Amino acid sequence: MTRVVRTRAELREALAAAPRPIGFVPTMGWLHVGHRSLMQRARADNATSVVSIFVNPRQFGDPADLERYPRNEARDVEICGEEGVDLVFAPTVDEVYPPGFDTTVAVGAIAKPLEGAARPGHFDGVATVVAILFSLVDAERAYFGRKDYQQLLVIRQMARDLAIPTEVIGLPTVREADGLAVSSRNVHLSPAERAAAPVVHRSLMAAADAWRRGERSADALRRVTRDVLAAEPLAVPEYVSVADARTLHELETVDASALLSTAVRFGPTRLIDNEALE
Ligand code: PAJ
Repeated sequence: MTRVVRTRAELREALAAAPRPIGFVPTMGWLHVGHRSLMQRARADNATSVVSIFVNPRQFGDPADLERYPRNEARDVEICGEEGVDLVFAPTVDEVYPPGFDTTVAVGAIAKPLEGAARPGHFDGVATVVAILFSLVDAERAYFGRKDYQQLLVIRQMARDLAIPTEVIGLPTVREADGLAVSSRNVHLSPAERAAAPVVHRSLMAAADAWRRGERSADALRRVTRDVLAAEPLAVPEYVSVADARTLHELETVDASALLSTAVRFGPTRLIDNEALE
């Protein structure tokens, strides 16, 4: 049976009795098959699995974006039950950020480019909430999707620097049959935008194919991606990046392992995706 707790005190009490190791999956809810894959690994590799459901106001720059973030806690708890999750932590904003809360965790260089540049303050909000959640849950392992690749690197850096012993594990991106990366934000796509959205993955695959055929110029690979995106009128690219997979510095030549990534707007909806070249 999945137990739902809402306060720090209830969480502490539930965890005191929980068999170790603990596997933790932080989420913002509106759970989908991508989240399920993380829960399955948390459950398979640990004696206790914990999922948090918290739409974190601090990681949204635009209040309207926070407002329209989809929510359905009853359905989320049902999904956690189906996946055999032991404990759901679904706190209020005040429970996570009590009155007088006044600390920000700001990760350095790895949080600056790409999503960090496009969404100022976003990774401060992510690092701050995940530091709090890691400290409250005190899990042996925590599971994150590589779909949010830079987020995974930011959280690894944060945990290492703050001496949080939780091991940060990255898992593959779960996709729809047509290649679109599953995301809570996909519900906002109109039917026409939804039909167009697989171009994001296609554009990355085209560049990955070029790389496999021997193309090593990062500019050439960016151009391949941009050309595929340009053929779809509903897709408005924000950035196309070919970066060092560890530092996220933009590359000129792809010789070591690289990360191909892009952010693309479809109307008001912003989708991100990436593909590792290794
Ligand atoms: P959320 O967007 O709910 O995602 C929770 C976790 O699910 C993240 O680790 C994300 O990378 C992973 N995920 C999302 N879509 C996925 C997919 N298609 N395949 C595999 N994994 C996927 O990311 C957040 O919430 C928040 O920033 C959070 C870390 C919870 C901090 O608030």
